[in-house]
Amino acid sequence: MGSTVIPARPVYTPTVTRGWLITFEGGEGSGKSTQISRLAQHLTGRGFTVLTTREPGGTPLAEGVRELLLDCRFDPEPLVELMLLEASRSDHVRRVLRPALERGEIVLCDRYADSSTVYQGVVGGVPREAVRHLNDLATGGLEPDLTVVLDLDPREGLSRARARNAVGGGASRIDDRPLEYHERVRDGFLELVLSDPERVRLVPADGTADEVFALILEALPEVLK
Ligand code: TYD
Repeated sequence: MGSTVIPARPVYTPTVTRGWLITFEGGEGSGKSTQISRLAQHLTGRGFTVLTTREPGGTPLAEGVRELLLDCRFDPEPLVELMLLEASRSDHVRRVLRPALERGEIVLCDRYADSSTVYQGVVGGVPREAVRHLNDLATGGLEPDLTVVLDLDPREGLSRARARNAVGGGASRIDDRPLEYHERVRDGFLELVLSDPERVRLVPADGTADEVFALILEALPEVLK
């Protein structure tokens, strides 16, 4: 009887990507969306075609998953969150990210697989190897060219996020977690920077929007500045 050999790692479809994938990470209220729109404007002004998107989200299915994940009525355990996130990520990568990169565009993505590494893995306790494996499966091995981690004291970040939510009504299940949770998220992102300093750049986010943007520009590869 012949046996079927199941590969230990997923089999990737190699794709030559011509564009750039730049992801933004950080805790709540770290100013990612402001900085992403500024960078999009900057790069568009330099003649690049830019696509901005987010995770969880970016496709109709993934936006549906996002609503479930942020809904205060549910409190799924980290493994359940991870599986929902990876399902939505897989749809996003295949339908949005890869096609845009193959067209040569610059994709600015608000959160990506590193958020799962930190929120569900480091903080949530899902074994790291399992998170890595599911991230690999969902992304098909698509890694960001650059990841900007906006670093801010969670006390400041939470008060910014709460002020924003009071105006926009966007409070989520995750914003509501205790300060200690957000401190562990911050430490998780710092650990990520140390583990892959070539790709992941730490940008202090406690300055004005102009100051933070200047630091992001410094972190960009020369051709995009
Ligand atoms: P969002 O309102 O976009 O928060 P923020 O403005 O801080 O980005 O909500 C996304 C939430 O989902 C955020 O709290 C982090 C969480 N998340 C994970 O836990 N794991 C993930 O892989 C991703 C992409 C997000």
